[in-house]
Amino acid sequence: MPPILAFENVSFAYDGFPVLRNVSFHIDEGEYVGIIGPNGGGKTTLFKLILGFLKPTHGKILFYGKPTADVTDFLAYVPQTLRHDRQFPISVLEVVLGGLLHRLPWYGRFSKKDHEDALCALDKVGLREFQNRQFGTLSLGQTQRVLIARAIVSRPKLLLLDEPTASVDSHSEAEIHKILASLRNEITLLMVTHDIRTIIQDVQRVILVQNEVSTLNPAEVCEHFALGVYHTPLVKSAFNSSQEKKNP
Ligand SMILES: Nc1ncnc2c1ncn2[C@@H]1O[C@H](COP(=O)(O)OP(=O)(O)OP(=O)(O)O)[C@@H](O)[C@H]1O
Ligand SMILES: [Mg+2]
Repeated sequence: MPPILAFENVSFAYDGFPVLRNVSFHIDEGEYVGIIGPNGGGKTTLFKLILGFLKPTHGKILFYGKPTADVTDFLAYVPQTLRHDRQFPISVLEVVLGGLLHRLPWYGRFSKKDHEDALCALDKVGLREFQNRQFGTLSLGQTQRVLIARAIVSRPKLLLLDEPTASVDSHSEAEIHKILASLRNEITLLMVTHDIRTIIQDVQRVILVQNEVSTLNPAEVCEHFALGVYHTPLVKSAFNSSQEKKNP
């Protein structure tokens, strides 16, 4: 089976400002992959390319070997930060149902099945009893869990999470990581994170996005962090210095 996602020599520039250069990698179905990299390295841009919000300047992005995904409800996304009006009177259940808007018929009512799916998604993030609470009254950690429920309610095959624990306390962070680890049998997960402990414990593979992209295993990440985080990949710099010695 072809990989669920493949980048083939993808480059991207915003109005001539290059952000990603000649990026190739693939993700197999069922993988849990961490994405790391410095601020401005292109992580969110990479997600926007996967989501189709941006188009590559060069190269191809393939889903199961094809340029577009055949399945509806293929992709879901939890954005880096969501600014919402905390006074806006919408319940937790309604926010989760928002993940099924594309299923809404012309007369505009969610079915019993949609409600059941929304409650099932709330169960997965441990917030069923919050279904009638006003969304704006939740803590940041609970807010993120509701946004994860909204993303998974349509049972996507591939879930993209852009720093889902960036603004939450360590207790909520641990809870969110537990929830994500529990989803890994159902969904292929791609998560931007700066949390090294999660990378080591939970993810199987790490992609370093720094204008270019390299793949590391979790143990190698420790080495990178210990050496002052995001420098040029070790192998490459070793290669360059040996070349320099040969050609002074
Ligand atoms: N809409 C845009 N127009 C022009 N430049 C942009 C736009 N969005 C992002 N950039 C630039 O592209 C580069 C990559 O941004 P991106 O948001 O992908 O980085 P990131 O790795 O997600 O960073 P962070 O860790 O801060 O979230 C940055 O230099 C940024 O300023
Ligand atoms: Mg970002």
